[in-house]
Amino acid sequence: VDTPKLDELRVRPRTSVGVSKNGTIAFIKADSENPLQEALEFDKTLQPWEIEVFDTFQEQGSSFFFPGFIDTHVHASQYPNAGIFGTSTLLDWLEKYTFPLESSLADLQIARRVYTRVLDKSLSNGTTTAAYYTTTSSVSSNLMADMCAKRGQRAFIGKVCMDRHAPDYYVETTQESQESLLSVIDHIRNKLRDDKIQPIVTPRFAPCCSRELMSWLGKLASEQDLHIQTHLDENQSEIAWVKELFPESESYSHVYDDHDLLTEKTVLAHCVHLKEEEAALLKRRKCGISHCPISNSSITSGECRVRWLLDQGIKVGLGTDLSGGFSASILATARQSLLVSRHVAMKETDPKYSERAKLSVAEVLFLASYGGAAVLNLEDQVGSFEIGKQFDAQLIDLESPTSNVDVFDWQHLTWNDKQQDKCNFDKFQDLIAKWLFNGDDRNTARVWVASNIVYSSA
Ligand code: GUN
Ligand code: FE
Repeated sequence: VDTPKLDELRVRPRTSVGVSKNGTIAFIKADSENPLQEALEFDKTLQPWEIEVFDTFQEQGSSFFFPGFIDTHVHASQYPNAGIFGTSTLLDWLEKYTFPLESSLADLQIARRVYTRVLDKSLSNGTTTAAYYTTTSSVSSNLMADMCAKRGQRAFIGKVCMDRHAPDYYVETTQESQESLLSVIDHIRNKLRDDKIQPIVTPRFAPCCSRELMSWLGKLASEQDLHIQTHLDENQSEIAWVKELFPESESYSHVYDDHDLLTEKTVLAHCVHLKEEEAALLKRRKCGISHCPISNSSITSGECRVRWLLDQGIKVGLGTDLSGGFSASILATARQSLLVSRHVAMKETDPKYSERAKLSVAEVLFLASYGGAAVLNLEDQVGSFEIGKQFDAQLIDLESPTSNVDVFDWQHLTWNDKQQDKCNFDKFQDLIAKWLFNGDDRNTARVWVASNIVYSSA
């Protein structure tokens, strides 16, 4: 099961997927009878003992493969604060909860404990690729890169750059920020050397960065062909502050553009209050947007108009935004994105647009997988099941022993029954809706990245 296009839920029952040792999908065979035989026919140089067969046909109940989730925006360092935000909004939330916690991770023992738990949670919730923010500390960022490599997750590691408007105990000089980022890039590219782990240029957000730092980061990203991530148009007070700090720029988005930070490899989190001209600029620059609906509802930032973005052809993926968001689960984030789209719909006065604003189950699952891959420029590698792509996948079992999804006998799928040629697509759509609304990590049976098992429930 995958979503190769927005609103296309593709179901390929009784299909075998052949994966080579380097993790690439080599063949996809419909009406599969004997996967071992099919693999031997595909590659005649193979011997039977060189092939491992994982047969979900034998599994009872409603199980299926779905592409691994892509978390396009997550602050690994903030995980201990998941669920703690009180009545704060962005700017006081940063001062009260976020900066003190992040600064404490300069202690590597604390960092290791936090990052271990984040990786546990992320992988057990089916996330196979994540764009992380760590902290300003290069050593703790390097530690996170090493830990992601060891656990086998595909990851972007964003050492946070911020050289002003932060408390004394958690601010860098411009030079410290530059040197620290260069050391993280060197560590990942020259020492770690794992092609699944990449550094990502991470100016925290415009208010915390000097013009000098942002220009230098923009130049570095272009010279070294690096991804970029930051926050944009999340909250009204933030936007007003940016206007005060950068009176010379046409808009918040233009502040980043004026420092060469908007590229096709840029991921912009939130974009809740984007204006028409800003959306047009992001579209021209081919930037991607990370929609973080749990965070936006929790710290009352606002409701992102996702349909409006998609209609303009802007790339959109989902982000948990731990700990603005309280959940490490992209499934929960997808569920919230569907609900937020309904809030947008309820506020829309034009009935035609109101109906359109609502995102479907298939659409939010697209954002969770293929959409996120496109935001990170990885759509040729992951996000759906195609020959030549990497096998980054999760095995979902709706009837796992402790499942919160109740599947009644008449809702059972018979697609694994070899007597049955076709699966009942309508029934299947209902099961997928049950997964989205009632499912959680208890349904994540196994997770693979590049064909390696990175999580197993049993
Ligand atoms: N803007 C600047 N820093 C942050 C952060 O850590 N989280 C969120 N949600 N927004 C930010
Ligand atoms: Fe964030």
